[in-house]
Amino acid sequence: MTMNETLHPNRVAERLEPPEDSMHLRPRPAGLVGPEPIPLAVLRRYAGRSLLRVAALDREEVVALSRFAALLESIEISEYRPLSGKLVITAFFEASTRTRLSFESAALRLDGRVISIPDGTTTGVRKGEALEDIGEMFNAYGDLVIMRHTETDSLERLQRGLRIPLINAGNGSGEHPTQALSDWYALLKWRPDLALETPRDGRKLHLGILGTPGSMRAVKSFLLMALLFREHIERITVISEMADPFGEDLQGPIELAGVPYEVTNDVQSHLSELDVIYMNSIAFLGDSYRALDSRYKLDASSDLKPGAVVLHPLARLDELDRSLDATEHNLYWTQAHGAVFIRQALFLSTFNRFGRLPENIPLG
Ligand code: CP
Repeated sequence: MTMNETLHPNRVAERLEPPEDSMHLRPRPAGLVGPEPIPLAVLRRYAGRSLLRVAALDREEVVALSRFAALLESIEISEYRPLSGKLVITAFFEASTRTRLSFESAALRLDGRVISIPDGTTTGVRKGEALEDIGEMFNAYGDLVIMRHTETDSLERLQRGLRIPLINAGNGSGEHPTQALSDWYALLKWRPDLALETPRDGRKLHLGILGTPGSMRAVKSFLLMALLFREHIERITVISEMADPFGEDLQGPIELAGVPYEVTNDVQSHLSELDVIYMNSIAFLGDSYRALDSRYKLDASSDLKPGAVVLHPLARLDELDRSLDATEHNLYWTQAHGAVFIRQALFLSTFNRFGRLPENIPLG
């Protein structure tokens, strides 16, 4: 395909089209793209911006980024090389499988370039170098930084020296905002009506959390983003080993949102009521990991509501049994696979590279 040829949005890329029975990429993204143009003015708000926490996003932006990601998942645009000439730095001072690799895949598939610190101990940090100084170096070496770090205040320290956009890929027990975008992208593909401002036919969701959001940054960011969709949420049930699972970052926003919620440690009494279950068992305490809430386990014989979906940021321990992988409840593969496209949507918006995309795609 040449730059002058137009590309129909319904031309599904063969490499992305899964077999009919594949659990990996269900549901298909086309339902979320929708007939209306994706609002370019909303996506352009992200040009040159950093993304450190969910509070930087509003519902309209999450929906626009998700619809744009669904478009990118539905068509083949790599030939247009829309990130050509842009260099992304992935700086990981804490272990990662999905986040670093999906960001790098997202950039490389659109012809961006990547330089990577997969293990922060190989940098000058080992000799005592400050993050402020590393930030100053990043200005010269790249166009955007994606950082993960064990310490919650690491973002502010890096930013003291930084003048290029920064994306938070997880900061200690702080937040993981692009994981929340991946989570909600998966949910919006599953139920495109969640993109509406008000629920269709009064269909609201009962959200369940198996975990402790205050100590689990992915769960915290998921819940904070859920509050942007509060009109679609009937109730939130948090099933946790901890009596106060929210912590200070969440307690205020959840009260302010006015969504009914309850905290319990009794999983059996609530499981069969839940439409969406978000689970995790790796908590971040101080600067180390700890298994928490791992007694709340799900498998194919669990008493799940028909049609209910399970999300998990992964990595999983034994709380999420592999027997669930081949069931209708598995939305976690969709969540993990879709991460590439939501991150592509974010890159194209941050770099304002819409002019490099083919004509005739529904951006308006
Ligand atoms: N979801 C997530 O943050 O996974 P990684 O730790 O593998 O990046």
